[in-house]
Amino acid sequence: MMGKGRFLRWVLVIVMMGWCVEGLGVNWGTQATHQLRPDTVVQMLKDNGIQKVKLFDADESSMDALAGSGIEVMVAIPNNMLAEMNDYDRALQWVKKNVTRYNFGGGVNIKYVAVGNEPFLRSYNGSFLNTTFPALQNIQNALNDAGLGDSIKVTVPLNADVYESPQNNPVPSAGIFRPEISGLMTQIVQFLAKNGAPFTVNIYPFLSLYANDNFPFDYAFFDGIANPIDDNGISYTNVFDANFDTLVSALKALGYGDLPILVGEVGWPTDGDKNANPANALRFYNGLLPRLAANKGTPLRPGFIEVYLFGLIDEDAKSVAPGNFERHWGIFGYDGKPKFPMDLSGKGQNKLLVGAQNVHYLDPHWCMFNPDAQDLSKLADNINYACTFADCTALGYGSSCNNLDANGNASYAFNMYFQTQDQNYMACNFDGLARITTSNISTPTCNFIIQINPSKSSYLRPSVVAVLLLTLPLILFF
Ligand SMILES: *[C@@H]1O[C@H](CO)[C@@H](O)[C@H](O)[C@H]1NC(C)=O
Ligand SMILES: *[C@@H]1O[C@H](CO)[C@@H](O)[C@H](O)[C@H]1NC(C)=O
Ligand SMILES: *[C@@H]1O[C@H](CO)[C@@H](O)[C@H](O)[C@H]1NC(C)=O
Ligand SMILES: *[C@@H]1O[C@H](CO)[C@@H](O)[C@H](O)[C@H]1NC(C)=O
Ligand SMILES: *[C@@H]1O[C@H](CO)[C@@H](O)[C@H](O)[C@H]1NC(C)=O
Repeated sequence: MMGKGRFLRWVLVIVMMGWCVEGLGVNWGTQATHQLRPDTVVQMLKDNGIQKVKLFDADESSMDALAGSGIEVMVAIPNNMLAEMNDYDRALQWVKKNVTRYNFGGGVNIKYVAVGNEPFLRSYNGSFLNTTFPALQNIQNALNDAGLGDSIKVTVPLNADVYESPQNNPVPSAGIFRPEISGLMTQIVQFLAKNGAPFTVNIYPFLSLYANDNFPFDYAFFDGIANPIDDNGISYTNVFDANFDTLVSALKALGYGDLPILVGEVGWPTDGDKNANPANALRFYNGLLPRLAANKGTPLRPGFIEVYLFGLIDEDAKSVAPGNFERHWGIFGYDGKPKFPMDLSGKGQNKLLVGAQNVHYLDPHWCMFNPDAQDLSKLADNINYACTFADCTALGYGSSCNNLDANGNASYAFNMYFQTQDQNYMACNFDGLARITTSNISTPTCNFIIQINPSKSSYLRPSVVAVLLLTLPLILFF
């Protein structure tokens, strides 16, 4: 017989399944100047029925907030730690501190350890080619030593640039791994297969469009195209399927056509480029999510695909080396507000995402260009300074604030800097070119933001409080 608690839990699980594609995950990146509290973020995941999350490290505050939630977690070792993990003792320590420690009832439900993040990206010039595979082996062995190898698997999230189709036969069925890394990829694939671990790939139709002005626009989405690509009788109408199946073919060529594949990242940014806007993002997700909900899969891999959307929240401190859009991938804004009415269930409910609760903002004070300023000779330098230390990517061509006039540009830059500096009044001077205002200087398309209040957003974790309370009598006694 089913106990009452268990029954309620089942009801909850069934209800949760209704509002989010089953098995859907999200990426939780934390490269923001002002972060939402980890417990706020975990509550957002729960409120939206999201059951899986992929991290880019094993940050203690995120892990503590995830403890007891039941949410499945992929923790990660960043690229800059891969070399260290070539030392087996160091790998053992990492697993002990960042995996084993959370492995208890009410702990963190860790399913995967990501070893590196797109380490073979072409733009890294081979920096991590020598260290990734040894790190992967060491971490799996350390998990095995800890008795966790059966339940927790290693994987390497790779960019889709590790495979390709030959130029003279650009169809998915001709997919192969990039020739200069094919030996390494073969070893990795064999190792993953031997350990029952999945291949993880990040697929970005937006980047296909961004990189190539001749890329057929509609092919980036899922509503069909005029001239589908014919591959030996299989018709491809979107680049996501074609890209995924290129990987399936590359694996098949190595004799591992059935290796499980996770999509570690997929999504669409909403600012910072002419094609990065909420309408295109919504079009993309409105195509992707129903396909996932229906377990449609791809022509070569019909059925369920485990997918992690990128990303959960905007990150204003990310490098813009890939492009200005890099800070705008969130399905939620920097403050946890939903950006568009996205239907996570994939079933046509068109229900708005549930935003972050109890977010505290700084006062409604903005920094603006001072229209009375006389000497404008240092204006450009000051804007440049502001935009070096704050996020001005919304000002660029095709972005949400690109239609401001010259004064508006200055105000936008000054305000972003002022907010990033927690509205310190000294951060709104700029050689007398700026002044503080209490009226909202946003325009219909360009939001002049108020940042999150950091003093109300940092907090003592309950576990820390508990430890303090428990040790206090001891300290007093001795
Ligand atoms: C655990 O993970 C954190 C965050 O990713 C990292 O800074 C730390 O070095 C790791 N601990 C060990 C013992 O490797
Ligand atoms: C890779 O090489 C290019 C060209 O030589 C250089 O501009 C870039 O900074 C290098 N990137 C890294 C991560 O080393
Ligand atoms: C990787 O190893 C090769 C061969 O030992 C060496 O030539 C190369 O410099 C190494 N690359 C890096 C980035 O350390
Ligand atoms: C405002 O700044 C953007 C980005 O730097 C620039 O493209 C635009 O021309 C500027 N507008 C004016 C009126 O100066
Ligand atoms: C300022 O105005 C914009 C656009 O009307 C609005 O979206 C935003 O919420 C307002 N900000 C504040 C802090 O009221």
